[in-house]
Amino acid sequence: MNCVKFLLFLELVFYFNNKVFAQGSCLKTYTNISIYGNDLNGVQGTISQCCQLCQQKLGCRAYTWDSFNGGTCWLKSATQPLSKVDPHGSGYSITGILSPSVNETYTLNQTYAAPNFFDTWHFDGWGLTNVTRDVDKQTAQNLGMIGYQNGKVYIGLDHKNVYNTTGRPSIMLQTNYLYNSGLFVLSLDHMPTGPGTWPAFWTAGPNWPNHGEIDILEGVSNMTSNLVTIHVGDNCYEKTNDSMFFTGIWNGDKSKPYFNCYQYAKKSSNQTIIFDIALCGSWVSLFIPGGEAACEEMVNKHPELYTEAYWLINYVKVFCKPNEPCGFYEPKCEFQC
Ligand SMILES: *[C@@H]1O[C@H](CO)[C@@H](O)[C@H](O)[C@H]1NC(C)=O
Ligand SMILES: *[C@@H]1O[C@H](CO)[C@@H](O)[C@H](O)[C@H]1NC(C)=O
Ligand SMILES: *[C@@H]1O[C@H](CO)[C@@H](O)[C@H](O)[C@H]1NC(C)=O
Ligand SMILES: *[C@@H]1O[C@H](CO)[C@@H](O)[C@H](O)[C@H]1NC(C)=O
Ligand SMILES: *[C@@H]1O[C@H](CO)[C@@H](O)[C@H](O)[C@H]1NC(C)=O
Ligand SMILES: *[C@@H]1O[C@H](CO)[C@@H](O)[C@H](O)[C@H]1NC(C)=O
Ligand SMILES: *[C@@H]1O[C@H](CO)[C@@H](O)[C@H](O)[C@H]1NC(C)=O
Ligand SMILES: *[C@@H]1O[C@H](CO)[C@@H](O)[C@H](O)[C@H]1NC(C)=O
Repeated sequence: MNCVKFLLFLELVFYFNNKVFAQGSCLKTYTNISIYGNDLNGVQGTISQCCQLCQQKLGCRAYTWDSFNGGTCWLKSATQPLSKVDPHGSGYSITGILSPSVNETYTLNQTYAAPNFFDTWHFDGWGLTNVTRDVDKQTAQNLGMIGYQNGKVYIGLDHKNVYNTTGRPSIMLQTNYLYNSGLFVLSLDHMPTGPGTWPAFWTAGPNWPNHGEIDILEGVSNMTSNLVTIHVGDNCYEKTNDSMFFTGIWNGDKSKPYFNCYQYAKKSSNQTIIFDIALCGSWVSLFIPGGEAACEEMVNKHPELYTEAYWLINYVKVFCKPNEPCGFYEPKCEFQC
């Protein structure tokens, strides 16, 4: 799968040098996009009046205009959640977002990229399924599973050797930093594909699922859409399905009931960022003729099916707000760090 850019955990984002603004300027508007709820109030007015009305209203960060009551500027305390549907059913809507305050400005904190990507992540071995044989750095190097190609980071499976029953060597990489907030941008050129593959870019906390799991980019075999999922405790489960973008807010205390489950997502804490390529397992095998046994046999015996099962990463960038340190160093390694 060829990918462009995935913007993660974000409010609306604009780049300028190495700064990312949590909101755009008043001049930038979005047609037929609405912000649901988070109304400070609704003021009758034309589209061109909304920005100023928002600027004059304490706590206003954005507005949605629609034709309700002859034209209404809905002044919003938040820039989320965005929707393509107009909540008042009038069809046409415009959303504008105000320039950020300094405290709302994200600044680049870390860049994970060549040439030292593999020094800043550790190799872990969760072995998510019984044919996913996560290996350490040395083994990965020896088998040609990791490397740098034209300034990009390559992470793949062993696609050369036959493994009779032991499972195929794979990789689970985790950041040495743990995160509790932030803006994360992944740019990649290639995502793993191949029958029985289950690649993911995701985060997880130490006490699963109570500390949360955010699946940002996840697919199975040759699936053409992305599965975005938030897993948490308390029987809460949230999934959206968008092949390109996931938007949402993850910011500690400021809980907002965007999703039924949003109240639980704030429990996500001390998250490591993870790249992995799992193989088969009960879910993935549903997509394989013959089920799990056939999937495992295929994975073990057919290295030639896995030449496309690799990540090719330009970078992962982490942005933080001032006064809100978003990550701290605490490597948790199964293999040596
Ligand atoms: C916005 O929605 C209205 C009503 O459905 C439609 O007539 C209009 O073409 C849409 N505009 C854009 C730019 O999508
Ligand atoms: C930014 O945050 C700091 C520390 O929390 C606070 O003292 C300051 O008033 C804030 N500035 C603005 C413009 O909100
Ligand atoms: C792999 O694990 C599944 C349970 O997820 C089990 O049913 C299956 O027998 C295992 N396969 C082998 C070869 O051990
Ligand atoms: C797999 O089995 C074949 C034939 O039985 C054998 O030649 C080969 O060495 C085995 N491979 C591994 C990795 O055990
Ligand atoms: C995915 O693979 C399955 C099984 O090999 C095949 O039937 C299907 O057409 C493929 N789908 C796409 C979108 O390539
Ligand atoms: C996700 O969306 C795609 C494209 O609209 C659709 O084909 C697919 O069935 C959806 N998957 C799920 C799990 O809803
Ligand atoms: C996150 O890690 C820090 C440092 O180890 C620890 O003090 C804190 O309790 C952890 N947070 C949670 C929710 O476990
Ligand atoms: C990144 O954030 C960490 C943790 O808050 C901080 O210690 C470090 O100085 C920051 N680095 C940069 C380049 O901003």
